[in-house]
Amino acid sequence: MDVKIHVTNRQGKEQIISGPTDMSLNLMELLKVHEYPVEGTCGGMALCASCHIFIHSTNLLPEISSSEQAMLDDNWDSKDNSRLACQIPVSENIDLLKIELAPEDL
Ligand code: FES
Repeated sequence: MDVKIHVTNRQGKEQIISGPTDMSLNLMELLKVHEYPVEGTCGGMALCASCHIFIHSTNLLPEISSSEQAMLDDNWDSKDNSRLACQIPVSENIDLLKIELAPEDL
């Protein structure tokens, strides 16, 4: 199936993007496919936080791993609803997920 994700960019503009659940993509990769300015410098290893997003819906997401938590703890603008997009597989669980890109690291 294709999931739909509501994405708010760093300028506050919301757009709905869609992506397939059968291509082993993660959400960082899907954002890149749609040309959002998410660098994904570490290639999705939870090591760079360039894919930091805020979650604004109640979808069931995978648990935060200790490496993801460590990156979020180190990040100046993390909030309670922070996640790393590369740690979220594009699956039916994230259909209609609402996310917002975190500010770019300085
Ligand atoms: S791409 Fe580096 S932490 Fe997600």
